[in-house]
Amino acid sequence: MVDYEVTVYTANRTAATTFNNVFLKLVGTNGESERKRLLSLRGPSAFVRGAVASFTVSYPTSLGKLVLVELDKKPLFLFPEDSWFPAKVEVKSPDGEIYNFPVYRWISDSKVHRFREGTALKGFEDSHQLGRYSREQELKQRQKDYCWDVYVEGIPHCIKADGPLSLPAEVRFSFTKQTEFLFTKITGLAELKLKGLVDNKTNWTNIDDIDRVFWFKQTDISGTDNLHKVNPTKLDNLPVTDKMVFPDGCCSLAEEIKKGNIFLCDYKQMDGVKTNTINDEKQYLMAPLVLLHKTPDDKLMPIAIQLKQKPAEDNPIFLPSDSEYDWLMAKIFVRSADFSEHQLNVHLLRTHLLAEVFAVSLLRNVPMVHPLHKLLIPHTRYTLQINFLARNRLISEEGVFTKFSASGGEGMITILRRSLSSVTYSSLCVPEDIAERGVKDVPNFYYRDDALRLWDTINRFVRGILTYYYKTDAEVQQDSELQKWILDIFEHGFLSQPCPGIPQKLTTVDELIKFVTMVIFTGSAQHAAVNGGQFDFGSWMPNTPISLQLPPPTKKGEATEETMLKTLPDVNTTVQGMAIMWLLSQQSSDFAPLGQYSEDHFSEETPRQMMANFKKELAALSAAIKERNKTLEVPYTYLDPEEVENSVAI
Ligand code: FE2
Repeated sequence: MVDYEVTVYTANRTAATTFNNVFLKLVGTNGESERKRLLSLRGPSAFVRGAVASFTVSYPTSLGKLVLVELDKKPLFLFPEDSWFPAKVEVKSPDGEIYNFPVYRWISDSKVHRFREGTALKGFEDSHQLGRYSREQELKQRQKDYCWDVYVEGIPHCIKADGPLSLPAEVRFSFTKQTEFLFTKITGLAELKLKGLVDNKTNWTNIDDIDRVFWFKQTDISGTDNLHKVNPTKLDNLPVTDKMVFPDGCCSLAEEIKKGNIFLCDYKQMDGVKTNTINDEKQYLMAPLVLLHKTPDDKLMPIAIQLKQKPAEDNPIFLPSDSEYDWLMAKIFVRSADFSEHQLNVHLLRTHLLAEVFAVSLLRNVPMVHPLHKLLIPHTRYTLQINFLARNRLISEEGVFTKFSASGGEGMITILRRSLSSVTYSSLCVPEDIAERGVKDVPNFYYRDDALRLWDTINRFVRGILTYYYKTDAEVQQDSELQKWILDIFEHGFLSQPCPGIPQKLTTVDELIKFVTMVIFTGSAQHAAVNGGQFDFGSWMPNTPISLQLPPPTKKGEATEETMLKTLPDVNTTVQGMAIMWLLSQQSSDFAPLGQYSEDHFSEETPRQMMANFKKELAALSAAIKERNKTLEVPYTYLDPEEVENSVAI
């Protein structure tokens, strides 16, 4: 007889315990064992939450190199079937070799479940017959569990789910996070001491009242998502003269453009969008053009604002030299357009919805034993569920955004569709994005500084892992699971549109590294950058009005404090917007910071070492960012790796 020492780890998470009988079968290159019940001295406590239980299992002959384990459980007579969440199984063979079998899944039924040994294998390397069979079976099951759905035509496809509980258990929030999420939504209004204001449909009558209700942070630079350096040809729609923008004659526009000191924010995606009606009032959303100047003392100052795209008599170009309220109103309309641009394009579409597509495609096409699955699975945590909730509570017919934002439901879809057609591959890859927009030298642009360093760190890690598994370009080309993954993303995320540069197949190792870097960066760093500051910068409502109630002035010299207050959203709309931004800026108790991988998916020493290095590099980057922040009046913390979550989870 030969003895195998089997150690079963039950995950330390709520409700992970089973009191059912657990059975195990080992499958190796020389054959398979019988199915045996795991009996331990610990008795029924062997499979409780957090338990590590060891068993000795004896067989007549050696099974050779272990390929997989089969696990199943059966309820005791009169006992109900329960759900068990094993983390992993470790097996020490008679010759002393240790095998690791990652599980990290709920087992809720009495069926046999197969889990592969943790050494990563691409499809074409998987030579064991039962290994290949379990690979196919796993994907077949997943394609049933994770189906594509069309929420509305023209935006990325999503996971099919009738309710948050119909999602497969392993992708749902943990019990803690779920209760917390519901709890904070209800308490958000109370926490903000806004409860008494929620039914108030009147207008603000005094700017001091707004000051008293909301806090805010000030910054030199925010809302730069859309900033581009101006080329001389680009100003056709904004006919400004030297005299308008430099009334003191200090410089000339042509000179400054040449020096690279003139920038443009163009909200053209908002042009002509149908707007909402809130509390019986028609709402307004402009499509402004904002010209900015980098001054000799390194400030980026707005020097001209035109609120509609086409130059016209009733579409004045507002200037800092105009009356206080003209200039203030122009800025408020810009900030309101920025709210819609930021939430719908930059936040929802470019992080949440794309991250969901990357995740669903991974789950449907790439089995657990594949190196890409091991690398990316921690970066999909909670994304499907948070997006389900976002669709259900924010953008559905009764959702807060639909009811209270300037674009309402129909306008929102128009903006999302236009945004998707404006996505290019380079705009998702931060080094190229910064270069293309010409914002390399914009002063005090900490997003750029930190994002570039994070991209580099992620890219080095991804390169290490992927070059370990893919030695040649041919291996990338022949990996059919990988190719299905990328094609599904192209079809369901980018709707097979020829979005410039988005690949529909991968031909080289370098292409694969770049795409995977983008996937991890989008779900972690980019989401943190656009999600984290929402409340800090948006909670003082006039800085980010969710909607506006009057059209902008068509003539200069008419705006007053009274027209400004009538233009701002009413009290009820303001408060709803604030509560949502507050909720979405909260950090949950089971927050998983970038690079902290709590599940052991990789068994080999080399990738494990690379993960440890990645963590070290992120810690060093975090220290450097903290040091830099000490010198700043308003620290930029959103891309400190300690504050960045592994995945889109909120
Ligand atoms: Fe978010």
